[in-house]
Amino acid sequence: MSPFNFVEEAMIGRSVFKNESSLFPEYVPQELPCREEEIKRLAQNFRILIEDEGSFSVNVAIVGQAGVGKTALCKYTMERVEQIANQRNRAVKFVYYNCHSFRSKTAILRNILTEHFGIRSRGFSDEEILEMLVKRLSKEGIRLIIALDEANMLDSQDILSIFHAGEYFGSKHSMISTIIISRPVEWSSLLNVPLSGHIHDQMDIQGYTREEILEILKYRAEIALYETSYSEETLQLIADISSSSRNARHGLEILYRAGKIADRKGEKFIKPDYIRAAKADVYPELRRDVFKELKEQELAAALGVGRSLRVEGVTATTIDEAYEYYIVACEEFNIETKSKSTFRSSIEILNKVGILSKSVGPIETGKRGRRAKITTYDIPVSVLIERIENILKQKVM
Ligand SMILES: Nc1ncnc2c1ncn2[C@@H]1O[C@H](COP(=O)(O)OP(=O)(O)O)[C@@H](O)[C@H]1O
Ligand SMILES: [Mg+2]
Repeated sequence: MSPFNFVEEAMIGRSVFKNESSLFPEYVPQELPCREEEIKRLAQNFRILIEDEGSFSVNVAIVGQAGVGKTALCKYTMERVEQIANQRNRAVKFVYYNCHSFRSKTAILRNILTEHFGIRSRGFSDEEILEMLVKRLSKEGIRLIIALDEANMLDSQDILSIFHAGEYFGSKHSMISTIIISRPVEWSSLLNVPLSGHIHDQMDIQGYTREEILEILKYRAEIALYETSYSEETLQLIADISSSSRNARHGLEILYRAGKIADRKGEKFIKPDYIRAAKADVYPELRRDVFKELKEQELAAALGVGRSLRVEGVTATTIDEAYEYYIVACEEFNIETKSKSTFRSSIEILNKVGILSKSVGPIETGKRGRRAKITTYDIPVSVLIERIENILKQKVM
């Protein structure tokens, strides 16, 4: 084959996927099997917005482990809630924010104002922005529902002030409702205590059973893959693997990667071997797109930590050690080197996002103060390094 034909083959040759993008992380399917009860319960919480006396706002918490469908449940249900309300001439607007990307109340409020209301908010304080927003909502009679996903990236004061916003500025109705999405650990450690008095319904979402994962895989495979490229056994095998994590994302990512392996090998069928290979590459706690949400400084910091952990026999590192490696990484990838305190904040973010774990160890005699030990959570160091290097290389190019 000539080089041109290689390219052509790679672009238009047969793939096991008929709709690859339906397995991308941001895709929300048309149906959510096994979540009927949760969909009903979430929607019911917002009935009040279309009832006449509906002058209250609603705050709902969705709490559950990774991959149990929290994000999908929220987007799926609320897009329909918005549509149904609007069909009944109730102005309801649903906006969704992933706090890994929008990391402060300010960033979220500014985005709501510019993206959804065409108001420029530069130079105003958070309080002023909230006031502008509530005034605008009151004037137009719009009930706004803000979903804050991965809400632990914000602090509870920020969320509280959004809860209070409707009441603060003397409007007749509470114009802002919220959905707070979080994992159980973060929910109980950071958010629950100050917020719980304001939460009308806390929905604890359970993980999927093996049978449920299988049903989800069947449905999603039907959309994503050609019928001839997999069999029931393919999906059974994946369900076996991901049933222990009870995490639907885990199973779907294995399916996706196994399909990609088949494509790369030019095979038309996803063989069990591809599933086993894909399994080794998928980390249930870590979303595939999590690295894309990181800023350059955070990528460099994570790389610094990764490389200092790669040193043989080391299971944890410290800020000081990792900072040395960070400086080298910055030079290598042409990234501006920042101070150690900025580096520290990056580590903080990486900790919150779930890539690194930071714990304060016991006081070592003869050393100053308590030193934070940094290690990786779920993902092998070599994989962490490789993924970040790939992203940074692309940025340099
Ligand atoms: N009941 C379901 N039916 C179909 N796909 C699902 C279902 N639950 C989760 N998924 C898919 O599994 C993946 C993980 O779900 P997600 O909502 O992102 O989980 P979480 O937000 O709890 O981490 C997504 O790709 C989502 O589309
Ligand atoms: Mg999610």
